[in-house]
Amino acid sequence: MPRTLLAFAIGFGAALAAGWGAFPRVLYQKKVQPIEFRHKTHAAKSGTSACGDCHALRDDGGFGGIPATASCAGCHGEPMGATKAEAALVNDYVKPHRETPWLVYARQPANVRFSHAIHTRLAGLKCAECHGAQGETDAVKPYEVNRISGYSRDIWGRSMSRLRRAPHEGMKMTDCEDCHRKRGVEAGCLGCHQ
Ligand code: HEC
Ligand code: HEC
Ligand code: HEC
Ligand code: HEC
Ligand code: HEC
Repeated sequence: MPRTLLAFAIGFGAALAAGWGAFPRVLYQKKVQPIEFRHKTHAAKSGTSACGDCHALRDDGGFGGIPATASCAGCHGEPMGATKAEAALVNDYVKPHRETPWLVYARQPANVRFSHAIHTRLAGLKCAECHGAQGETDAVKPYEVNRISGYSRDIWGRSMSRLRRAPHEGMKMTDCEDCHRKRGVEAGCLGCHQ
């Protein structure tokens, strides 16, 4: 009896490990960002170290999001350095006046309403609380799209078991609600959905 139990335990463990290891690989498709942008270079070399220099809240309280190509043109009208990434920016986007098709890791489904002004200005939350270290990174990470839901992987998060979670490790409905509960915030269905 203990032997069959042992065999079962080994088989069960192996199946679990295979599932947790293989499932995300099948479920998510990787896409590359259009340009190798580095936050770190800009903090060090461009003098635009404040996040708000590029990701500003507008006067109407709306959030500017990822900056338009026009805002890069002031510095990148012609290449300053010798990197391929900068040449691609100048030749493929700045000179032809084309928008860069950035893939947004944090993008929520269309029925979700989210305001940066409420969270950064009113609640005083740091960007990293929800986005992790993205604003200090030295490379763009691959964007992973869930083949079933079409959502970015950053919504459901990386952990299959959903243990050891901080808000920036996923931003599902329960992640929004967990922080709200901790801070005594009441946002009804229609506060977050439209
Ligand atoms: C020189 C302009 C510039 C500055 C300064 C800047 N960013 Fe960015 N940021 C970008 C661009 C361009 C992207 C799109 C490429 C990418 O995802 O890395 C981006 C993307 C992001 C994203 C990804 C959003 C998503 O979900 O796809 C986050 C988060 C972010 N920035 C946070 C920050 C923080 C925090 C700071 C300050 C520490 C900062 N940024 C400073 C230009 C800038
Ligand atoms: C205030 C000036 C300034 C602005 C605005 C600016 N950059 Fe840069 N950027 C720099 C400097 C300086 C470098 C470093 C050039 C070098 O030495 O190779 C750089 C380098 C780069 C590179 C080369 C790879 C890297 O990051 O090291 C890319 C790509 C780039 N910038 C994209 C952007 C994009 C996209 C925007 C607009 C969202 C932007 N930059 C806005 C100053 C700026
Ligand atoms: C409370 C969590 C939270 C905080 C704090 C926060 N963000 Fe976000 N951010 C989000 C969510 C959620 C989205 C996706 C919004 C959507 O899809 O409508 C997002 C989207 C973004 C995007 C992509 C926007 C786009 O659509 O192009 C950028 C860039 C970004 N955030 C930067 C920042 C910066 C910079 C800060 C700090 C000043 C910050 N965020 C603070 C949760 C947060
Ligand atoms: C604090 C913000 C917040 C509140 C409050 C909230 N939702 Fe959501 N909801 C979200 C976010 C973010 C998503 C998208 C991410 C996800 O799928 O978990 C979502 C997704 C959903 C979905 C799609 C399910 C899915 O997994 O894709 C349904 C249905 C839904 N919400 C219904 C409701 C109802 C009904 C209420 C009120 C009882 C409610 N929500 C309250 C933030 C919220
Ligand atoms: C890390 C904590 C944190 C996370 C994560 C977070 N929020 Fe919030 N949220 C707050 C705080 C704090 C407030 C209260 C702001 C204030 O009024 O001072 C708030 C307020 C709100 C409000 C306004 C509620 C009201 O009527 O006062 C909405 C709507 C909202 N959040 C939506 C969301 C959605 C959607 C998400 C997930 C995508 C989310 N929040 C994730 C902390 C968070």
